[in-house]
Amino acid sequence: MTFLAHLHSDLRCTRLTRRGATHHPKDVPRGLHKEYQRMPQFRLPEPESLTTTLSEALKQRRSGVSGNAEIPVTFQEMGTVLGLALRKPSPMHHGRHYPSGGGLYPVETYLISTALESQTPAVFHYNPTTHALEMLWDLPLNFNMKDIARNPEPLSLSSMLVFTGVWNRSSAKYGDLAYQHTLIEAGHMSENVLLVGCALGLSMRPYAGFDDTLIISLLDLDGELEQPVHAVILCKKPQHATGSLPANED
Ligand SMILES: Cc1cc2nc3c(=O)[nH]c(=O)nc-3n(C[C@H](O)[C@H](O)[C@H](O)COP(=O)(O)O)c2cc1C
Repeated sequence: MTFLAHLHSDLRCTRLTRRGATHHPKDVPRGLHKEYQRMPQFRLPEPESLTTTLSEALKQRRSGVSGNAEIPVTFQEMGTVLGLALRKPSPMHHGRHYPSGGGLYPVETYLISTALESQTPAVFHYNPTTHALEMLWDLPLNFNMKDIARNPEPLSLSSMLVFTGVWNRSSAKYGDLAYQHTLIEAGHMSENVLLVGCALGLSMRPYAGFDDTLIISLLDLDGELEQPVHAVILCKKPQHATGSLPANED
């Protein structure tokens, strides 16, 4: 079978016709995100100042596989990663710290973690307006983080940030082109997260090889409307860590 390049061309063509769009562009709401208001809210600390420069982070960033999944990631570290990479500059502003096609922000961020400071293993949603983790529910008792990675050896992971596409937030305006815009946006978000994580000395790795069905179940998503598109795994580095190991091909 040849590579599906024709699908790319087909989707790019819809840039002109907006095939599948359901709304007039001016009627599409901008800057929306999900909120789980009835769930416990854990307001994250304000991001700390980074001492690593951008050029150092760009040069030093590597996908890590080694870490100590037993050491919890602190609230301060999570607040710095999410606050610098993904939040809104201010609650009144509909933008974020990353770009989005049409300012529609179709990507949501969830955290699945077995080692977050003072928390039992649980699933969270990140609210970019309040800079809070909304605690959704506990992970199953026998849950192992490696269950969500399709090729888990030799990874160490204690947390996974999951990026999901809420397709109709973008397809209302762009129709089928929403597919590309959503994936590209998840890439921008991932890179922000990786650079901040690198500056903090966390072990991080972009990870598309997750188990889609299990993630959809853990996040309780309606798989027709919202699907996982990308993820970043993270972990504390062991004390003696020296950089990254080769990639784990999926
Ligand atoms: C879109 C994307 C998906 C990836 N998926 C996986 C994955 O499923 N498993 C994995 O071990 N690494 C994954 N990686 C990490 C790459 O293997 C890694 O970035 C690459 O080997 C280059 O190494 P570096 O990030 O250290 O520069 C992914 C990276 C990207 C950008």
